[in-house]
Amino acid sequence: MAGTLTTNGVLEGICHYGVIPVLIPEDLQRVRRLGIALRAGGLPVIEIAFRTDSAVEALRMLTLNPQMLVGAGTVLTAEQVDLAYHAGARFIVTPGFTTAVIERCQRLGMPVIPGAANATDIIAALDHGIRLLKFFPAEAAGGIRVLRSLQGPFPDVRFIPTGGIDASNAGSYLSQPFVAAVGGSWTVASEHVRHGDFGTITSLAAEAIQIVRQARA
Ligand code: 3PG
Repeated sequence: MAGTLTTNGVLEGICHYGVIPVLIPEDLQRVRRLGIALRAGGLPVIEIAFRTDSAVEALRMLTLNPQMLVGAGTVLTAEQVDLAYHAGARFIVTPGFTTAVIERCQRLGMPVIPGAANATDIIAALDHGIRLLKFFPAEAAGGIRVLRSLQGPFPDVRFIPTGGIDASNAGSYLSQPFVAAVGGSWTVASEHVRHGDFGTITSLAAEAIQIVRQARA
């Protein structure tokens, strides 16, 4: 775990599992089954991206199960924070730094993981008392090399690299002491969800948990 990040334990929960599956919700009929598939693989965490009209309903469906740690991603506005909050989301993820979203989350007592890709974003987050950040887009922004460079000026910041991460490179991020978890769509890829291929989703979730264990051993 990445130390004490919040009092309510949500961020600790994310860091404990080490992987945030990121879902672009399409077919609502398959969403509940998807939650079951992830849990069967030992990964009861999901981020629902606000990129389709189904996001709020998908959040509502998944948050019905108290065993799931369900958050909202691609949150760009304070209004979306409200929608996610009322749908039962337990954390918010943004792709970049946004004062409006962060301040709304803090007012609601909602854990927020803002996106950061450079030192300016990190300083802005620290100004808001936040030191767990989504490093996005991880691979395109320079990957581990950039994160290592950012450790010098920001030794207390921990990252959740996301963007271009899958089973082939997750372990190399997770073995870095400044990486609290990774995020990515690979475990809940649209093609598997669309085809109702829940066995594959369970296998990918179990594999992801195994990668976390090995990287942290
Ligand atoms: C996100 O919103 O977190 C990313 O789009 C996920 O990136 P990926 O699809 O490359 O995993």
